[in-house]
Amino acid sequence: MKKDFLTYQAQTTPHPLGIEVERAKGSYIYDTSGKAYLDFVAGVSACSLGHLHPKVVDAIKQQLDLYMHVMVYGEYAQQPAIEFSKLLAEHIEIENATTYLVNSGTEAIEGALKLARRYTGRQEIISAHRAYHGNTMGSLSLMDFEERKKPFYPLIPDINHLHFNAVADISKITTKTAAVILETIQGGAGFIEPQNNYLQKVKERCKEVGALLILDEIQPGFGRTGHLFAFQKYKVTPDILVIGKGMAGGMPAGAFVAKNEIINSLSDHPKMGHITTFGGNAIIAAAALATLKEITSSTLMQETLEKEALFRKLLQHSLIEEIRGTGLMLALIVSSEEVANDLVLKAQEEGLILFWLLFEKRAVRITPPLTISDQEIREGCKKIIQLLDEIEKKPVN
Ligand SMILES: Cc1ncc(COP(=O)(O)O)c(C=O)c1O
Repeated sequence: MKKDFLTYQAQTTPHPLGIEVERAKGSYIYDTSGKAYLDFVAGVSACSLGHLHPKVVDAIKQQLDLYMHVMVYGEYAQQPAIEFSKLLAEHIEIENATTYLVNSGTEAIEGALKLARRYTGRQEIISAHRAYHGNTMGSLSLMDFEERKKPFYPLIPDINHLHFNAVADISKITTKTAAVILETIQGGAGFIEPQNNYLQKVKERCKEVGALLILDEIQPGFGRTGHLFAFQKYKVTPDILVIGKGMAGGMPAGAFVAKNEIINSLSDHPKMGHITTFGGNAIIAAAALATLKEITSSTLMQETLEKEALFRKLLQHSLIEEIRGTGLMLALIVSSEEVANDLVLKAQEEGLILFWLLFEKRAVRITPPLTISDQEIREGCKKIIQLLDEIEKKPVN
């Protein structure tokens, strides 16, 4: 399988992890030899309810008996998409919250950027240094890493940057700014939380100058931080909310949400200012609805904080300098990039899935399913400590 994977599928890195997957259930992935891997990554925060959650599977099966795809987004009234959007509106503070459903995180970012320009009539977008918002042209344009962007030039113009958490930079937001886009918690940068009411200060400035605040909750969203969305923790409400990843319990989905008056500006001048074929697809929307119902009606969100405390208690080692993040969005900051690499690769050999962060090379990602049990957390953390002990004893070259 691996040989064909490397031959016929386009690769994103020269050294993919390459587990030959047979099946997955709960917090485990199983390879074709039957080896079990405890999943501390959840498809990079996407499998919020673990693998094959019965309620998500049932919702998909029930919808499969009715219909799959009947029309492009926005033409027909379809129950799963309507119910999802309605339930979402009940759980967020955005007034008259209205949802535009798309297929992925980066597509939702593209939609949000277009909406901000269309609604304000302005061009400038301000994003943060070390931000990650996806990989299509618009999302890529928001990044400040020249080496990642340059081969794809020209990207979209009128993007400027501020430093996340730097209050002095807020004055860069002016009456020329259409929108400021920030990850509520910076992911790729190393799970950096906003400090000292930073987001509230940004929001106030946006209000003053008539710019919109877009919060990218693609990673922290859907219960991972102990709140449905992290902006609820920091008590600031975005003008445009962008969601994805954990939204549909492991199915591909994304959306951007804003108050009715803002988001409906995409439906006229020009008509069909944003369109998509599969956005709101009935199967995906049924999965998203089941996921949202489960997260909002169970104790999973509050358990997230108890599970964080357990991780923090168990993960104490001289090679771990810091544990960043909140809830089940945690990053171990280890003593060097080499230690981070060794840990991720050796953990896989030992049947534990860990992963890296994009820009913080000393970080090891821990973003398990919200459904992970205390017993599974103990099992995985024990392996991490044992591996760090081995790495520490390894002779230095
Ligand atoms: C914060 C954030 N924004 C946007 C994206 C892009 O989402 P997708 O990969 O679904 O396009 C990601 C993906 O990792 C992300 O973490």
